[in-house]
Amino acid sequence: MSPQALVKLHAEREHQQFYKDIVSGLTRQQKRIPSKYLYDQRGSQLFDAICETPEYYVTRTELAIMQEYGPAMAARIGNRSMLIEYGSGSSLKTRMLLDHLQMPAAYVPVDISGDHLLETAGRLQDAYPEIEILPVSADFTKPFEIPVSNIEVEKRVVYFPGSTLGNFQPEEAVALLSNVRQMIDRRGGLLIGIDLQKDSLVLHDAYNDAEGVTRDFTLNLLLRMQRELGARLDYDGFEHHAVYNQRLGRIEIAIESLVEQEIAIGNHVFSLEAGELIRTEYSYKYTIGGFREMAREAGLLLRRYWTDDREYFAVLYLTP
Ligand code: AVI
Repeated sequence: MSPQALVKLHAEREHQQFYKDIVSGLTRQQKRIPSKYLYDQRGSQLFDAICETPEYYVTRTELAIMQEYGPAMAARIGNRSMLIEYGSGSSLKTRMLLDHLQMPAAYVPVDISGDHLLETAGRLQDAYPEIEILPVSADFTKPFEIPVSNIEVEKRVVYFPGSTLGNFQPEEAVALLSNVRQMIDRRGGLLIGIDLQKDSLVLHDAYNDAEGVTRDFTLNLLLRMQRELGARLDYDGFEHHAVYNQRLGRIEIAIESLVEQEIAIGNHVFSLEAGELIRTEYSYKYTIGGFREMAREAGLLLRRYWTDDREYFAVLYLTP
């Protein structure tokens, strides 16, 4: 099959999966849409814009921690290491590690978006000619092959920044951490960024920014359903809904139906009551102790962590 035909086949499969997941998600008693569908091209641009809003402290705080403690983290990662980044995106934070990594070293960015990945990998290879860069286009929640390196790798270290783990339910998070543990073997490590529990108002505002960027990000799912599935719905009849559930330590995000109405997709018609929620995302906020326990369940031990003055965010180093 030609590369063009393969790309087309892949796009068709993705489209079918999107249709299936939307129909089954809207059929459920508690309606929901998997959060991965938030990140189409526009959604990814909107997420980048969220990171720039004054209320969303997450990205800025993590970057500052990486800037300050990058050398200490790189020292932990050590010599002859293969750094494997989950959901590498534009690899901005990674530069704070690559700048200080001890040679020889290999860097494996893993991302679902193939085009973006190759572009970033090319730019990084120019900036870091001495590091072997081996991009992998894959979904890191499923098993994938680690490429063979030219250097003699002594240990594998997974880097998982951005508190992306927080978008997984606790059982899924433990399963993902267990996969990491298996991949890094006994000698390896995990460097992970997690968002910490804090004042409810700070958290509420971070997911309800005044400019409405987060609102556009959530409601983009409706536009995507219209565009890609021909869904018939009234965009103005919905609103972004994000609240902090202090008991469970998580932000709960949904699309709220403002009135009694219907969404139609093909032959399917879904009825919604006024005030009904379509769940789109959870964003878990951790305590260091709570996270340590969760990691222990997955066979990982906390060795060190770095945080900011306000203790809003933390980057942790764990080993099997
Ligand atoms: C990607 N992830 C860590 C973000 C978060 O904070 O949970 C996604 C997000 N959703 C709305 N704002 C940010």
